[in-house]
Amino acid sequence: MTEQFEHGYSIGTNNLGLDLVRATEAAALAAARWVGRGQKESGDGAAVDAMRAVLGGVRMDGVIVIGEGEKDEAPMLHNGEKVGTGQGPKVDIAVDPVDGTRLLALGMRNSIAVLAAAEGGTMYNPTMCFYMDKLAVGPEAADVIDIEAPIEDNIRKVAKAKGKRPEDVVVAVLNRDRHEELTNAIRAAGARTRMYTDGDVAASVAAASESVKNIDILAGVGGSPEGVVSACAMKALGGRIMAKLWPTSDEERQRTIDAGLDVDRVLDTNDLVSSENTLFVASGITDGDLVDGVHYMPNGGARTHSVVMRSSSGTIRFIEAFHHLDKLNRHAEASGQKLHEL
Ligand code: FBP
Repeated sequence: MTEQFEHGYSIGTNNLGLDLVRATEAAALAAARWVGRGQKESGDGAAVDAMRAVLGGVRMDGVIVIGEGEKDEAPMLHNGEKVGTGQGPKVDIAVDPVDGTRLLALGMRNSIAVLAAAEGGTMYNPTMCFYMDKLAVGPEAADVIDIEAPIEDNIRKVAKAKGKRPEDVVVAVLNRDRHEELTNAIRAAGARTRMYTDGDVAASVAAASESVKNIDILAGVGGSPEGVVSACAMKALGGRIMAKLWPTSDEERQRTIDAGLDVDRVLDTNDLVSSENTLFVASGITDGDLVDGVHYMPNGGARTHSVVMRSSSGTIRFIEAFHHLDKLNRHAEASGQKLHEL
């Protein structure tokens, strides 16, 4: 991933994102069979297997920096696992084969298969600390936010930067007890909350996205891996995510410090991913704010909806693909790939 655009559109350079999107499409197709069936592990497992099978064929020397967990607990796509053919660019990869496993299991909106990539050695590895406090916005407000300032101040500044009244500002917050004080403060400032049950990545990207109009800020505590994945999207969108690790116990705090991470540090987008050449790829499992989900068609077909963002060019592509499921299943079987029945 070293090529740079100097001017205009170039067809001479390779966009790895266009290969990687096949991995999120495969994960979404595999997971979609489990939508609304109440079994989040089965949906997640199917997505992991499918994503891993496709990643194996992508020309890159990839390493999973943020995966499904440590090797013993996660036999597939575990942290440190090598992915790709081993040739080509050195790439750090963060995967979340299903962001929103509960959304998937319940058949709710905004479950996505997502993957982010950056030049090798440039991704922050927060895996010792499960949660981060986050504040994310789009380009218009990128210069005015401060995660250490009260949310009221951030709302006022974001409103001004976007030419809105504070009353018109919408803040997306995960619907958790830990956010009671935050939501009270948002409402006291006159702004509105958009509470969501799961799916931090889709919500933070929505907060920074031109195509999703009705979220201005993402605030609150969510998964650390999701924070790094979102940072890769922010680089393409021109948005900003600020974060602080949020250990939930003294033991986790100590483990995080022992791993060499500073729990008091304010992490900016560049700290979460320092490369200026990042990719963010997502495919919808269920319909959502960012992309639609998998739609089954007559005669054994399915349509997927994906987005591919590339920071070096700032290109954002929405890709709708039609898949012939019988052919995909036959192909997977013939090549010995571990794919669940699509
Ligand atoms: P999973 O898909 O792994 O279940 O994560 C969903 C999610 O909502 C994330 O998007 C979010 O960052 C995290 O869970 C929040 O964690 P918790 O549910 O523990 O508050």
